[in-house]
Amino acid sequence: MAAPQRNLEIKARDADPRRSLELALALGAEDQGEIAQRDTYFGHASGRLKLREQTPGETELIQYRRPDEAGPRTSEFRRVPVGDGAALCEALDAALGTIVEVRKSRRLLLWEGIRIHLDEVEGLGSFLELEAPDDGERLGELTEKLGVGDTIAGSYSDLLLASPEALLKAAEQAMRNAYAPHSEFKVGAALRTPTGAIYAGANVENASYPQGQCAETSAIGALIAAGEREIAAVAVVAEKLDVCPPCGGCRQRLAEFARADTPVYLGGHETTTVGELLPLAFELEA
Ligand code: THU
Repeated sequence: MAAPQRNLEIKARDADPRRSLELALALGAEDQGEIAQRDTYFGHASGRLKLREQTPGETELIQYRRPDEAGPRTSEFRRVPVGDGAALCEALDAALGTIVEVRKSRRLLLWEGIRIHLDEVEGLGSFLELEAPDDGERLGELTEKLGVGDTIAGSYSDLLLASPEALLKAAEQAMRNAYAPHSEFKVGAALRTPTGAIYAGANVENASYPQGQCAETSAIGALIAAGEREIAAVAVVAEKLDVCPPCGGCRQRLAEFARADTPVYLGGHETTTVGELLPLAFELEA
């Protein structure tokens, strides 16, 4: 098997992308222009596996492995050109499942063999990345010259998965499938576990009204059925209400698997915690 290629990389938030561009150009970096990229991350991968579709540029499958640590880190990667990106995306999605899609606009510059990425990532904001081949001799020098701030440990996919937006989106998707012919009040809930997995549920009503089940309860069922036991974040959305606070019963059900400080995103506008929603939750042990 061919050995993977290696890069030394850093990633940081960029408070002032225009200034970064000016600094890079002033250093004599070669401007390669803007690239629109969509990266689809697949599940069950050892390390990470993503399909990159880009304009301009070729579609490629990228397998990589990189420690989740701040500061310069070595990435080992393989890039494989792909003929039919859409078909491969469907096949990998069917086999492995899609974890998240990252869409960004990348301004690419080259300085002394180092790639400078000025990235605008949908839902996350502005970032600066530096990628140096292998030894990264001059990476430190460039980091200083560009005034790069605190570096980030994970990937864009991790940041997106940790954001309320991804959870809210999963809740909205579930909401569309809600079975609510009696109240016509569709609700969706999504729960994130500490490892980043998301489980969603919708309300399921019944002609015998009290047999209906809330979206939060459905989502808890999905999480438990998958072998999980911990809720790290909650999102609840309703079709007809901007802020849909969980009912009393669901607050107690959420408290069973969450902590008092577990965030609860109510629509896109209000954030609370499980503890605020249910102070003095019932517990068998004090
Ligand atoms: N509902 C939920 O699914 N979650 C809540 O937090 C509040 C209410 C559902 C139950 C019922 O199907 C419909 O909304 C109207 O009460």
